[in-house]
Parts: sequence; C-alpha cells; structure tokens
Amino acid sequence: MAIVDTSVAEAKKILDKGGLIGLPTETVYGLAGNALDPVAASSIFEVKARPSFDPLIVHSSSLERLSPFIKDIPEEAKKLADEFWPGSLTMVLPRSEKIHDLITSGLDTVAVRVPNHPLALDLLSQLDYPVAAPSANPFGYISPTTAQHVNDKLGDKIEYVLDGGPCQVGVESTIVGFPEGVPTIYRKGGIPIEEIERVIGQVKVNAQSSSQPQAPGMLHRHYAPNAKLLLGNIDEMIEEYKDENFVTMSFNKSFPTVSEEKQFKLSESGDLSEAARNLFKTLRAIDKLNPSFILGEWMPEEGLGRAMNDRIKRAAALG
Ligand code: TXA
Ligand code: MG
Repeated sequence: MAIVDTSVAEAKKILDKGGLIGLPTETVYGLAGNALDPVAASSIFEVKARPSFDPLIVHSSSLERLSPFIKDIPEEAKKLADEFWPGSLTMVLPRSEKIHDLITSGLDTVAVRVPNHPLALDLLSQLDYPVAAPSANPFGYISPTTAQHVNDKLGDKIEYVLDGGPCQVGVESTIVGFPEGVPTIYRKGGIPIEEIERVIGQVKVNAQSSSQPQAPGMLHRHYAPNAKLLLGNIDEMIEEYKDENFVTMSFNKSFPTVSEEKQFKLSESGDLSEAARNLFKTLRAIDKLNPSFILGEWMPEEGLGRAMNDRIKRAAALG
C-alpha cells in the first residue's frame, strides 16, 4: 500500500525523482507525474491501464506558469481563467512544442488547469515543472474523492498519496475548448455551464458519448460500478426488482419498504453541491456491498445536476 500523508515536501521529493503520487484537488484526486518527463508520463498510462489515445490534463499553480506550453490564448479563455482559476475548469488550447506528444496523444492542443486546493497549489508552486494528472482511478472505474479511494485501487502501484481530505466538488472539471474559435464544452463538470455562459455568453455543448470519442472522458461506459445501474422511477423499480439483491440511490427520497442499509441518498437536504460531492463516494460504498442492481434516478438537469447526470448516464452505460 502507498503511504498516505499530508507532507508536501515528501510529495515533491517523489515527483522530482520521476515518481507518481496521488494528488488532492477540489474535483477528484489525480494521479500526478512530471508532465515534462516522458517516462513519468508513460507510467501514468501504465498505472491507470489507460489507452494512449486518451490525452492528459496538465496542471500548474497559475496561468503564467502554464503559458510556456500554450501557443496562443483566445480572449474568452483569458476571461474564463480570470474568473474561474484556480478552479474546476480545464481549457483545451493550442499547444507549444514544449509539451510531449505522450501527454496530448499527438493532438495539436493541450488541456490545462489550475486546481483549487491549498495543498495542491502549495505543491505545484514549488515544482519546476507542471504535472500531468488524470483522475486516480483504474481506467473506466469510478473517480476517487478521498485519499483512501486512491489507495484502495492504486495503492500497490504508487508510493505516496498526498492526503488533502475529501474533495469539495466531487465531479471532474468542466472541459472547454475553442475549435475554430467557438467556445465548446467537451465535458460537463464542476463549473456549471450557466456560470461559463455568464462570463463569455452562449457556448456550444459537444459532450456526447461514443465508443470512439475524441475526448475519452466521453466514452459511453465510464465511471462504472460493478453492479448494474438502472435509471428510472425508483418506486416502480422496487416493485419490479423485489426478488433481486438491489440497493437504491436517490437524490434525497426515502423508500419505506427498503431497509435502511440498502438506501443511499446523495443529499438528505436536496442540495446539488452536496449530492455531487457524494456521488462517486456513494458508488464506491455501494460496490463494497456487492448488490446485483442499483436502482437510481436522474438528478435535476440544472447546475451541477448536469455533470452528475452525465456521470450517471455513463455509469449506467446508456451511451
Ligand atoms: O477534475 C479533473 O479534471 C481531474 C483532476 C485530477 O484535475 N482530472 C481528470 O483527468 O478528470 P482525466 O484524465 O480523467 O480526464 C481528462 C479528460 C479526458 O477525457 C481527455 O480525453 C480530455 O480530458 N482531454 C485531455 N486533453 C485533451 C485535448 N487536447 N483535447 C480534448 N480533450 C482532452
Ligand atoms: Mg477520469
């Protein structure tokens, strides 16, 4: 198992010698390595069992520190960085030659982000290089929102997890690109589309799934628990599946005929931020019970609910 602790100095030591660490961010934990070191980058793909056509996000502590890796920045991107960095926004921008093809999977763009987490910012500001960090889960599995989650699935493959406590947002960053100059959402995430549009006006949304996507966070089966996730009216499904080994996962509803330990509510008080924070944690907790079915429902399609519905859809492999 990896060592799980709060020492930024220890995390830096491992990164400096080309190793990988679990990195806390406000969205999910990342599996971080020196983005300028091709050996570290290829070990990220290996540890995650991630296909090499799926490019990585490059993280640093400020736009200035990321700028050597970016060729040019559209006006809208500057506005978004001003407004949301540090924060749960990733931008896909034209890349410079300084970033390796392994990181970008050979694309002519690079994804960049300044995460909003005090330990991550402290660490990133002390490094002489940016870090590449995909979510620290085995490819296709549920993203980690605690240091323990990272240790559970990847602990035998990495040395150290920097423990920054439970992630405060709980779903991955929103990804925005600018193909042909048009602001386009590639992945719904921690910054709601409404917020982005408040700053730069209307954006295009191109976060559809497929089995051969350009951005593989868009793979139609992703974030998937072992149990089969079914979506619909939970009350009706309870009737239909009464002879099966199931649990429920609702936004905030209770079901009197189901025993307490088989009911999972994402937010008792019906708060979307709290529900987002609890989503991946709940799916992992459910997997430990090993049910055959998860009877779930869609979240309200607004704010963070949109990012949650995207993850729920993929977890159910509805495509
Ligand atoms: O919240 C997050 O973004 C977390 C934390 C750790 O920062 N990271 C994360 O990374 O979710 P990952 O690798 O699980 O997802 C990155 C997504 C992938 O779907 C990838 O295809 C897309 O970003 N991506 C990376 N570079 C891209 C590029 N140049 N063009 C289009 N999509 C890109
Ligand atoms: Mg991921």
